[in-house]
Amino acid sequence: MFPGTLSGGVVGRALEKKIWSYDTINIRDFAINNYGSVDDEQFGGGAGMVMRPDVVGNAIDSIKNPGKIIFFSPRGKPLNQQMVHEYIKNDTITLLCGRYEGLDQRVIDEYDIEEVSIGDYVLSGGELAAQVFVDTAVRLLDNVLGGGLDSTQNESFEIGGLEWPLYTRPSVWRGHKVPEVLLSGHHGNIERWRKQQSDEITKERRPDLIKEN
Ligand code: ADE
Repeated sequence: MFPGTLSGGVVGRALEKKIWSYDTINIRDFAINNYGSVDDEQFGGGAGMVMRPDVVGNAIDSIKNPGKIIFFSPRGKPLNQQMVHEYIKNDTITLLCGRYEGLDQRVIDEYDIEEVSIGDYVLSGGELAAQVFVDTAVRLLDNVLGGGLDSTQNESFEIGGLEWPLYTRPSVWRGHKVPEVLLSGHHGNIERWRKQQSDEITKERRPDLIKEN
């Protein structure tokens, strides 16, 4: 599953340029038997299997420098842009991709693992979540995006809300005109228009992003 989607686009190019790199570990290499078992029934009963702490612990211990360990799970703290900015301050991060119902709590406690969710829905495994995480992180690293710092500074979430609508050539398409102000060359007016559009769209779609003050 890796690099999967991470082999394409700007993140893939950054991988080729060795701006970032990764190693994968197959949890099955640490299975308790020849069948490759890494999970077991949950104590207390209930549907769904749980990843065993001995297996996952041995897998983690095989990593020379695990750094911060993140476990992707719908139970985790919802990932946001600000968290990604914090995470990229680490040189190395270990991403633990869950399968089955979950991970034995004792491993989470033992290694002080941070549980992170990429949204309020349930994936069948953590691998896609890990790729979403790496994509958001890598594009913020130096020399990954062509436009330098500017390319990320004006984005949704970076500006404290959602981005304004964007337009490019042609200035008239199927009878639809680009808003006049954007063609005016008046930077002050353009900036005010964008701010107002951004505020409106944020209020409508994501009122939770608007700070009370
Ligand atoms: N694994 C399963 N669902 C997930 C989610 N929403 N976020 C992160 N990891 C997950």
